[in-house]
Amino acid sequence: MAAAASAPGADAFAGRIAIVTGGGSGIGEALVRALAARGTAVVIADIDRAGAESVASSVTAGGGPVSTAVLDVRDAGAVSALVNEVAAEHGKLDFIFNNAGIAVGGLVEELTLDHWNRVLDVNLRGVVHGVHAAYPLMLRQGHGHIVNTASLAGLVPGPSLAPYAAAKHAVVGLSLSLRAEGASRGVKVSAVCPGFVDTPLLGRVNPDLPQTEIGANAAALARQLGRLYQADALAQDVLRGVQQNKALIVAPRSARVAWRMARYAPGFTMRSIISGVRRQGAQVAAAESAQEAQAAEPSGPAKSP
Ligand code: NAI
Repeated sequence: MAAAASAPGADAFAGRIAIVTGGGSGIGEALVRALAARGTAVVIADIDRAGAESVASSVTAGGGPVSTAVLDVRDAGAVSALVNEVAAEHGKLDFIFNNAGIAVGGLVEELTLDHWNRVLDVNLRGVVHGVHAAYPLMLRQGHGHIVNTASLAGLVPGPSLAPYAAAKHAVVGLSLSLRAEGASRGVKVSAVCPGFVDTPLLGRVNPDLPQTEIGANAAALARQLGRLYQADALAQDVLRGVQQNKALIVAPRSARVAWRMARYAPGFTMRSIISGVRRQGAQVAAAESAQEAQAAEPSGPAKSP
């Protein structure tokens, strides 16, 4: 099939068809809205039916049509079936946003193998399944753009996030390697690497897994960094990056600064991160000993209510 080129001046997203995994919440939801507003027909593919349906019903009319599909990205057969179904129905698939993900956090000694396996299954294998299903189809079409959501944790060290960072570094490596393969054959590949984004993910670290101190306090810790980057702003940055066919879409600016530091001053970056880990460890130890001292204090005379 011939490559689908946009007419000069036409919106690169109008009349296109996209699958957004994890489109039922947070960044995926914002991508769905942004794409639909630009005239893309969007399939929200999410394990959470209620979330997907609620996003679909809230998308304002007048843009591209939005539909939903219940999908667990860990299920390779289901991902492949959805990709083929959507392409058959629309005659093509222009974009797949492999975005579904979960957060897993904690010190490595606190984490079970379930923590490692869960995050690798969803955040890495989920992306592999999307690529494995969509890439051959896009090669046959002669066009298409695969957009994988990685993270700033895929570019810089992530203490207390080792399994998550491992999965995200792998998604960056996968995306850049596939980009090099697909470039001369009409298929584009980008990886999205945001810093902290204000989404429900920060409040559900280690879902259905033993909780860790960092996991329980992730949202508060992220907020200590100041006003968080909003998902709608990220979605606009992603669409701009996709339109410009960027290899890595790193945003916001603070994430680009951290990424540059890690590339150009890796020794300094590692020393700063180690100092941060040490400071955080000291704070936790101080809070624990204050709690122990309080618990050991003899309690005063009982007060009547
Ligand atoms: P979120 O929790 O708001 O949304 C994630 C969506 O993925 C949910 O709708 C959830 O139901 C869905 N999902 C989870 N497991 C799934 C599975 N097995 N199959 C299909 N759908 C599944 O999270 P958020 O923040 O929007 O995250 C989206 C992506 O962005 C993830 O890959 C995350 O790792 C990444 N990211 C998030 C950052 C943040 O600070 N929020 C920063 C950098 C990257």
